[in-house]
Amino acid sequence: MARIPDAFIDELLARTDIVEVIHARVPLKRQGKEYSARCPFHDERSPSFTVSPTKQFYHCFGCGAHGTAISFLMNYDRLEFLDAVDELARAAGLEVPRDTRQRNANPDTQDIFKALDAAAGFFQRQLAASDKARAYLDRRGVGEAIRAQFAIGYAPDGYSALKDALGTDPRRMQLLERAGLFSKNDRGHVYDKFRDRVMFPIHDRRGRVIAFGGRVLDPDAAPKYLNSPETAVFHKGRELYGLWQARQANQALARLVVVEGYMDVVALFEHGVTQAVATLGTATTPDHAELLFRNAPDVYFCFDGDRAGRSAAWKALESVLPRMRDGRQAFFLFLPEGEDPDTIVRSEGASGFDARLRDATPLSQYFFDTLSDGISLGTLDGKARLAERAKPLLAQIPDGAFGDLMQQRLTELTGVGARPSVAEASAPIRRHGSQPLAPPRRSLVRSAIALLLQQPSLALDLPPPYRFVALRQPGIDLLTELIALVSVRPEITTGALLEHFEGREEGAALQKLASQSLPGDQASWREEFHDAIAQLDRQTLQQRIDELQAKLGTGLDEAEKVELRELLQARR
Ligand code: UTP
Ligand code: MN
Repeated sequence: MARIPDAFIDELLARTDIVEVIHARVPLKRQGKEYSARCPFHDERSPSFTVSPTKQFYHCFGCGAHGTAISFLMNYDRLEFLDAVDELARAAGLEVPRDTRQRNANPDTQDIFKALDAAAGFFQRQLAASDKARAYLDRRGVGEAIRAQFAIGYAPDGYSALKDALGTDPRRMQLLERAGLFSKNDRGHVYDKFRDRVMFPIHDRRGRVIAFGGRVLDPDAAPKYLNSPETAVFHKGRELYGLWQARQANQALARLVVVEGYMDVVALFEHGVTQAVATLGTATTPDHAELLFRNAPDVYFCFDGDRAGRSAAWKALESVLPRMRDGRQAFFLFLPEGEDPDTIVRSEGASGFDARLRDATPLSQYFFDTLSDGISLGTLDGKARLAERAKPLLAQIPDGAFGDLMQQRLTELTGVGARPSVAEASAPIRRHGSQPLAPPRRSLVRSAIALLLQQPSLALDLPPPYRFVALRQPGIDLLTELIALVSVRPEITTGALLEHFEGREEGAALQKLASQSLPGDQASWREEFHDAIAQLDRQTLQQRIDELQAKLGTGLDEAEKVELRELLQARR
């Protein structure tokens, strides 16, 4: 794992508001001192996910997910550690210490990004220089502004334009190859993969070029579209063409429209529909579904009306069902034969396209229409068959109102219930659900630790030496370690502190302790903490007195006699 100085991480987390970071992605509701939501990391009916602004950490009582703002970004936005740190640092106006960054960022990956960026620049310059390619884009109605917004370019004909321009030494050649920009023939000869094609760079969620799609100019050439292969930075099942641009163009995305092609996305943007994205020549994957819903509550899937389109739509539905938490809606739009969003928006404009979206089929209707296709619901046999088909699919819908309604609909259609009733289904979930259990009775050590977890800075006004370190009681070593940790990392938040113990035996217990909400306020915690420490100190004293008194029979030396006298005095 990367080594960024702990002090920097502490400062970063101290300057970051985890509530703000999470709320921007998962709407939170205030609940007393904390915030809650339904957990974004598992499917649930009642909110077990809590975010503590004071402890600066999140914790799910249902699935146990927990961590700091950094780990939240890593898990939710799927960022690498360094990228998550970068993102928070940018928002907080902090500079990540540079040399540690460069030493630790995976140098190869960084260089692949650079190679892809250089290639995108090269293709854009080639477009400016090619009358033929510009004429093609003119003909298809792709204007200058959209060309720039999507960084559209042109890969010239011939086998070595890119190679000659950018592959000037073996190291650069290797990077371009690992970026997926070259092909190799049987004899091992390396040449440009994209030739005489309009180039559509694919951007990741941070706006970096990670791959390309290239369309032929020559109508006789094949394949019509060529995509980058999977590389270290490009996994096509997890990316959506246009998502970067859609996020740039919209403050908040109320909807996303999923289309099939690059040109569809570009044409929709050209006409002001700036919420279009495309899968990259693949079916909609569950990863896509999650990514879509994380960015917008309503998702519209557009497909051709032909057989292939219908089968692609059903695949999309299957990917989406397990992601249908409450508040999310999916719609299906089937276009007339021979049309695609590109042709529709050109002939009908944004308003015509919007009208079609308004008429799109809700998932529920598409689901039951498709499953009842060829079944006669007037017969018992037909009803049974529909129930049979629907059951395994409905079982994938997360708990919630949507699942209940789908179930109700099935019952209406067939008279058969496929899932247990709402009450039955939710009961066990509530049981280990959102309410933290009553705090167990604690030992002194335990309560000192709990207080420290509540507010690490309590350790700061506790100057050494610590008498209690000599106490032989479970947890004393841990308490000592916590105090020492806070004194060298004075800005550490609870979240970061827990992170420090992650993977260690004590980690889980600390996590549990920290997620409890202690009664009282800062002043009373301070008092309790000092009280607990004072009592531990007294117990330590007593422990030593007992030791020395036990030795009285066998005889104490002079020093021990003095010590005992002093201890007895101190105890009074
Ligand atoms: P289409 O064949 O529907 O093309 O492919 P299109 O989007 O209408 O393109 P234009 O309007 O003719 O330029 C839809 C998508 O399927 C993938 C591409 O992602 C394309 O955008 N595809 C298609 C390929 O990957 N390879 C192909 O050869 C064809
Ligand atoms: Mn088309």
